[in-house]
Amino acid sequence: MSKILVLVGSVRKGGNTELLAQAFANGVKKNNEIDIISVSDIKVNPCDGCNACFFTEGNACIQKDDMANIYSKLKNTDTLIIASPVYFYGISARLKAVIDRLHTPMRNQFGVKRMGLILVGASDIPKLFDSIIMQYQLVLDFFHLEDIGMVLVHSAKNIGDVEKTMGLKEAERLGESLK
Ligand SMILES: Cc1cc2nc3c(=O)[nH]c(=O)nc-3n(C[C@H](O)[C@H](O)[C@H](O)COP(=O)(O)O)c2cc1C
Repeated sequence: MSKILVLVGSVRKGGNTELLAQAFANGVKKNNEIDIISVSDIKVNPCDGCNACFFTEGNACIQKDDMANIYSKLKNTDTLIIASPVYFYGISARLKAVIDRLHTPMRNQFGVKRMGLILVGASDIPKLFDSIIMQYQLVLDFFHLEDIGMVLVHSAKNIGDVEKTMGLKEAERLGESLK
């Protein structure tokens, strides 16, 4: 049984990233636990790089916002899925803020053993996802995490455009592949 957390990086309700995350969740078999958290429903400030979390009790961040819930969920998560729209060849700033806040030594208590990547962008250029994939692979290497796979969707700009692509099917299959 897997304990899966999907972080959705678009505030656009019913947008392409959210549709892909839902398709992924639809594929996940019933004996697994899955949670989807969207940046549209939380308020998370960027990391200030103060390193206070290296000295606080439990390595808690001194910022009081919705990261507290994500920290607690990650202690009980083995599979983390990053789902983001492409913003200027990177992930969205709101999702990057969440990820940067994982710089705390508290991450040593997280249960994450493997990750997956779901990306969607408007352009059809072949290199669209290259810089994000590079960052993803560096993170996998650094933390010795397993890659469960990627869903990369080109040519989806407006809400629902992803439905005209193979992306939803691919996301569902990635969900199905999880044991
Ligand atoms: C600030 C911003 C930057 C974007 N940058 C890119 C980009 O560099 N390349 C691209 O193909 N699409 C880019 N897009 C388009 C989105 O990736 C695309 O519309 C995506 O489907 C949005 O996902 P959503 O429906 O989940 O919000 C950008 C959109 C925004 C709002």
